[in-house]
Amino acid sequence: MANPASSQAEALAALQWLIEAGADEAVGEAALDRTQLPEPPRPRQASAAAKPRATKAEAASGQPASPGLPGLGDAPAAPPRSRRPTNLTPASETQADAQRLALAATSIEEIRQALEGFDGCPLKATATQLCLYDGNPDAKIMIIGEAPGGQEDRQGKPFVGPAGQLLDRMLTAIGLDRSQVFITNLLFWRPPGNRNPTPAEIAVCLPFLERQVELLEPKLLLLTGGMSAKTLLNRSQGILKLRGRWDDYRHPRLDDPIPALPTLHPAYLLRQPAQKREAWRDLLAFREAMTRAGLTPEPSEPPESPESQDPPEPKEP
Ligand code: URA
Repeated sequence: MANPASSQAEALAALQWLIEAGADEAVGEAALDRTQLPEPPRPRQASAAAKPRATKAEAASGQPASPGLPGLGDAPAAPPRSRRPTNLTPASETQADAQRLALAATSIEEIRQALEGFDGCPLKATATQLCLYDGNPDAKIMIIGEAPGGQEDRQGKPFVGPAGQLLDRMLTAIGLDRSQVFITNLLFWRPPGNRNPTPAEIAVCLPFLERQVELLEPKLLLLTGGMSAKTLLNRSQGILKLRGRWDDYRHPRLDDPIPALPTLHPAYLLRQPAQKREAWRDLLAFREAMTRAGLTPEPSEPPESPESQDPPEPKEP
C-alpha cells in the first residue's frame, strides 16, 4: 500500500516543481492527461497515386476543368487551407479590434467593459480576472506599472501585493495616497508565473492604456520600471539609465506631451533595497513637479523617506 505521507510529499514536490516552472494557476477543474488524448487528424496529402487522371479536355487545354480542384469537374472549390487553427485571428485584426474597442469607450468603466468582452490578449485565458486600475479616475497623477502579479490577479487591482505596499509607502512619503492618483499597468492580465510580457501582449493592451490616458489627461506620469518607461517613452535604454530623468510622453491623440518620470519598480526595490535611495531622489523630483503643477499644497515639513531614514543628499549623477 502506498505510504500516504510519502505520496503527499511527492505531490507537494510536484506542485512546487510546477510553480517554479511558471504553472502557478489552475486553468481547469480536472487535470488533463495530454498523453492520453487522441492524435489530432493529420491533414491529407494528395499523393500522386490518388491524383485523378486529367480528362482529355484538360490534357488538351493544359488547364484543370475546375480552377481549385483539378479533375473534379463542377465540384465546389474547397476553401483554401490555412495552417492556423480557425479560432485564431490574425494579429493585425486583433490589433484593429483593440483600437476600435478602446476608442469607442468614453469612460474608464466603458474601458473595463470593452476589456471584459475582448479576447484578443491570450493572457486573459490564464489570468483569474481583469486587473484594470486602482485609485481615482479623476486624478491628474497617473502611475503606470508593468503587469499584475499573483495578488493583483486575485484581487483585480494593480499594486496590491508586496510591491504595491511599498508603492503606498513611497506615495505617502510625498504626501499622496491612492485617492489622489490613478494606478494602472501596461498589461491588464497577469502573465503566468509573472514572466515578462511579450511585445505582442504589450501591443494589444496599449490601445486601452492610451485610451485611459486620453480620458484622464493626467498632468504628470510616474512610470515604474523599465517595461513601462521603455514602451511609453519609446526608449531602448534600461531603467537604470532612464530613471530620474524627466521625459515627454507623447500621446497619439493629445496635443501636449505629458511630463513623465521613469523610476525604479517597487518590486525591484524589494530585491535591491540599496537602490531605494535612487528611488527616493526620483520621488523628491516628482514632488517638486507636483508642486509646480499645482497638484499639491507646499508641505510645511519635509517629507519622510519611505524607510524613515534621512533622505540622502541628492548628488549629481
Ligand atoms: N507590479 C506591477 O508592475 N504592477 C502591479 O500591479 C503589481 C506588480
